[in-house]
Amino acid sequence: MGNKVTISVIKADVGGLVGHTIVHPRLIERAQEELAKTDLLEDFHVTAVGDDLNLILTHRHGTDSTEIHKLAWNVFEAATEEAKALKLYGAGQDLLSDAFSGNIKGMGPGVAEMEIEERSSEPIIIFMADKTEPGAWNLPLYRMFADPFNTAGLVIDPNMHDGFVFEVHDLKEDKRVHFSCPKDLYDMLVFIGAPSRFVVHSVYRKDEAGSAASIAAQASTQRLSLIAGRYVGKDDPVMIVRCQSGLPAVGEAVEPFSYPHLVAGWMRGSHTGPLMPVGVADATPTRFDGPPRVMALGFQLAEGKLVGPQDMFADVSFEPAREEANRIAGYMRRMGPFEPHRLPLDEMEYTTLSTVMDRMRDRWSPIED
Ligand code: F6R
Ligand code: MG
Ligand code: MG
Repeated sequence: MGNKVTISVIKADVGGLVGHTIVHPRLIERAQEELAKTDLLEDFHVTAVGDDLNLILTHRHGTDSTEIHKLAWNVFEAATEEAKALKLYGAGQDLLSDAFSGNIKGMGPGVAEMEIEERSSEPIIIFMADKTEPGAWNLPLYRMFADPFNTAGLVIDPNMHDGFVFEVHDLKEDKRVHFSCPKDLYDMLVFIGAPSRFVVHSVYRKDEAGSAASIAAQASTQRLSLIAGRYVGKDDPVMIVRCQSGLPAVGEAVEPFSYPHLVAGWMRGSHTGPLMPVGVADATPTRFDGPPRVMALGFQLAEGKLVGPQDMFADVSFEPAREEANRIAGYMRRMGPFEPHRLPLDEMEYTTLSTVMDRMRDRWSPIED
């Protein structure tokens, strides 16, 4: 006998106002209207970060539920209708298929889902980012679950002292591996330090690893360009983190974002820039289509209901991080088209390389000593 509940965070960019800046309020309203019609859910919350519409859903149907994924797909289609009527930019851009086919993963939208046994008190934080990619969570997840300089509990809470297990995915070769930290820490860093290819997919408590009780964090790892085989925008990621009582405290979960680390994305998905933590009102990437933003909404679950949200990064204690991010953004911008502000050639979402190479083919000659 348990109290299993599933949290599904499903997001898509189905049209921007203006360009790729924000989601028009009508799309948020339409998503709310559609979700209110169903009896499949325990609860829902609709929000947006930049040009991404985020559906936070709780239900009893488990992860990868066809019914829940279809519901989300239908909501995005309805929002696309609104986006088309308003001639918003890139209307329907993340819906890569004409019809839903069983599981929304691989069809464009980003998904983070976990089925949990709801504890007597269940604090969760939903992190949502725009103008970056899933690997942007690697460093903060490492800090939350493996770095004692961030998470005091790793040292002083007996329930956390054994550490956590990280599941890391190789997005190029479609493989997974588990690292048991702190034992495997140095090995893990070899991989997750290369976030364009290796991404943390989930984190588990060690005690009952693999069970619904043990899941601690879950991130979206979809990469649209690998799915579509062409430029389709960055895969602005989402993540669910459970907190407290043997897991990182809420303050330990948000602490990594007080440092605006450099991530890939920003303008044309082809630049490096700082990830700026913002409240809902400031999730409006504008300068050079950025800089990349991250938002965090905290909820208490109560029998599957979402009590909240608390807009975690709206707090004044994140102001220095925003100032630092703005200062770094200015510094990086001055490098214009030069690396490392502009991403290496093989990581850029847009590239003129092959066209320019073709045009220049006859002008290259061997270097003779
Ligand atoms: C980044 C992003 C924007 C666009 C840019 C150009 O993820 O979405 O920076 O890449 O505004 O957009 P297009 O090619 O649609 O004109
Ligand atoms: Mg967009
Ligand atoms: Mg976006």
